[in-house]
Amino acid sequence: MKIGHLDLRSRLLAAPMAGVIDVSMRILLIRYGAGMVFSEMISAEGVRRNQKGSTALITCHPQESPCAVQLFGRDPLVLAEAGRYAQERGAALIDINMGCPVKKVVRQGAGAALLREPELCARIVDSMVRAVTLPVTAKIRAGWDTASINYREVGARLMDAGAAAVIFHPRTAVQLFTGEADWSLVGDLAECLPLPVIGSGDITSRRQAYERIAETGAAFVMIGRAAMGRPWVFSLEAHEPAPHDLYPIVGQHRLLIEELYPPRKAVSVLKRHCVYYIRGLAGAASMRATLMKSETTDAIMALMSDYLLGD
Ligand SMILES: Cc1cc2nc3c(=O)[nH]c(=O)nc-3n(C[C@H](O)[C@H](O)[C@H](O)COP(=O)(O)O)c2cc1C
Repeated sequence: MKIGHLDLRSRLLAAPMAGVIDVSMRILLIRYGAGMVFSEMISAEGVRRNQKGSTALITCHPQESPCAVQLFGRDPLVLAEAGRYAQERGAALIDINMGCPVKKVVRQGAGAALLREPELCARIVDSMVRAVTLPVTAKIRAGWDTASINYREVGARLMDAGAAAVIFHPRTAVQLFTGEADWSLVGDLAECLPLPVIGSGDITSRRQAYERIAETGAAFVMIGRAAMGRPWVFSLEAHEPAPHDLYPIVGQHRLLIEELYPPRKAVSVLKRHCVYYIRGLAGAASMRATLMKSETTDAIMALMSDYLLGD
């Protein structure tokens, strides 16, 4: 279960998710068995300009090891510089975002816009491989749109440039998150590329993840949205906990958040994660509205206790 020299303990990895996967969630997912966690995408340009948001995000906490740092940008040298910076701050792997379809990113010619420039994708990986001693990967989509599906070409170029693995979300950029991830494309890439392929898209359980691995020959599978408020999705005991079993999990997460953030920030981060934990439960909408009014972590936990454990 290797990516470059990294030997991972599980084939299930936590997907990068901007605005969702913070350091507290990454530590929790490692505790629950994720083979590796990925940071949300971080602007290489922001790192170069020493912007507070970007440089703070890039640091990996010892408890979240192994942690991959995902960078976005389009300038091979700027990306490489940010990669070096991430390596110095504890990253175990550098991943380059070549799949983000969000306007703000694509407008800069970064993220999924890079799929339209396979030669530049290769130059970026080449430059990163020279800059760091860590494994380098790239996360791609199937292509820009259905008329320009080019994951095979991009995958081959990334490999030639020295990528240790390719992460593949088999939707086009234009598709955003609509329709279904086409896992037959993951199978196709795994067959034609002599590199580990990491599939990402629509996995909802550990069991389904292993089915995808068996069906497609993917070496690893990422879990993204299904891990929000569901850290146990990575664990061997794959059954869904009852609401009252959720409380100790939220309690554990709360302690991490309090350790990692100053008090005011801790309140907003805990609220956000509590909203994920209660998703799909009866009365979640009104609970969410009540949670939003809380001003301390104690108040949030009191509400969660009433909600999950009853009076
Ligand atoms: C809120 C959100 C933020 C995301 N941010 C990133 C990101 O920063 N970098 C990235 O490569 N993919 C990002 N993704 C895509 C996921 O990593 C993943 O490929 C996609 O959600 C499909 O997997 P899933 O169905 O398991 O969520 C994001 C997805 C969501 C829902």
